[in-house]
Amino acid sequence: MKLLIEGGRRLQGRVRISGAKNSALVLIAASAISGGEVILDNVPKISDVLTQLEIVRAIGGRASWTGENTLCLDWSGPLEGELPYVHAKKLRASNLFLGALAARQKRVKIPLPGGCNIGSRPMDLHLKGFHLLGYQVSMKHGFIEARAGKIEGNRIYLDFPSVGATENIMMAAAGTPGITVIENAAREPEIVDLAGFLNAMGGRVRGAGTDVIKIEGVSEFRGARFSVIPDRIEAGTYLIAAGISGGEVTVENVITRHLQPVIAKLQDVGLDVAAGEDRITVRRRGDLLPTDVKTLPYPGFPTDLQSPMMALLSLARGTSIIVENVFENRFQVADELKRMGAKIRVKGQTAVIEGVERLYGTQVRATDLRAGAALLLAGLAAGGVTEILQAELIARGYEKVVEKLGALGAAVRVAGDESGEPGAKSV
Ligand code: EPZ
Repeated sequence: MKLLIEGGRRLQGRVRISGAKNSALVLIAASAISGGEVILDNVPKISDVLTQLEIVRAIGGRASWTGENTLCLDWSGPLEGELPYVHAKKLRASNLFLGALAARQKRVKIPLPGGCNIGSRPMDLHLKGFHLLGYQVSMKHGFIEARAGKIEGNRIYLDFPSVGATENIMMAAAGTPGITVIENAAREPEIVDLAGFLNAMGGRVRGAGTDVIKIEGVSEFRGARFSVIPDRIEAGTYLIAAGISGGEVTVENVITRHLQPVIAKLQDVGLDVAAGEDRITVRRRGDLLPTDVKTLPYPGFPTDLQSPMMALLSLARGTSIIVENVFENRFQVADELKRMGAKIRVKGQTAVIEGVERLYGTQVRATDLRAGAALLLAGLAAGGVTEILQAELIARGYEKVVEKLGALGAAVRVAGDESGEPGAKSV
């Protein structure tokens, strides 16, 4: 799919933020633990969610939309213990069924998710945790298999506060007798959302949001109704869109404290930021200033906004440095931004960005979801028309992005949609 962006329009107005992709994906998997009916509200209708639902149906769950963003999941039937490769290979987050199915039926087999464009992404920390809980874990023929041996709660120290490992171990431990303590746990808001959901289903999880999470295993779970938190990464992307286009945008339906690390950087760049409890307004008043960014696990600056930030800093008056500390291969967008006239030097985990006067529209290719978002932002500021190839990657994580940008005054459309109306064809 191709997106066409006619640049040079200042964005103006309000945009309502959708539910968080990285919470919805784990909550959909975790709902299998209920063994009954779960209703999830504020679920974004993005392609990654639709793929996760294909997996739900393939292993014996039922899923139906009962509202614009409300999902009804029924897990009362018998389940397959093995995830089908044909679906799982499309989505790394399919690996979150490891913890969910372990808690539900004490045995699970999932395809070993390969790496993706942004890094090798091993699962050694997940498996170390399962081993310490007493699961027999094997990896063969491209599959990971975990079978309950004498399972019991344990103390698990994570060498790196991995989001996925923390989530999988939390889910497995929720159904493992005894007390499990995860140390150096991930502290992302999505972890807190998962803990809230597990407790709503009868779990006993405490300390989520800190680096020490305590889980007391239970044997019975139940259905629940739960609402997904707003997407802080989608919100950050629209705030950067205000800055790069020279306009003024208010993001609504956000949890402002989740965006503190982002707000701080936007202020460093010289943008006006007005933060309320559930809305944030960014206004550009002058030149963009250079700044240095280091990506870190939460509450550090999110790696998922690193590429969008690179697009913004490409137009700053001076030199900025970005250090990517979470993924080893997340600077691929630099080459595409350079095609638009940006000046960026990449060496290992460091990118040096020398700001330029302007960017020029041309043909570029999205290499992953957030790189695609960065090219969309660059296209908003660039002179002329930018054509993004492989733009379907953007639809994996942004709900109705063409419609939402169109409502803010952007000229964005899907190629082949000749109506010319900005935002006419929804992606
Ligand atoms: C989650 O991925 C998010 N995905 C990612 O969002 C996000 O970038 C990432 O967390 C970091 O915030 C979902 O929630 C579905 P990690 P995850 O385990 O869980 C290494 C997006 O754009 N590691 O915290 O896979 C790993 O290789 C996506 O929305 C190990 O070495 O991330 C990486 O370098 C992209 N061994 C680092 O830790 C392990 O066992 C962070 O990975 C696990 C991870």
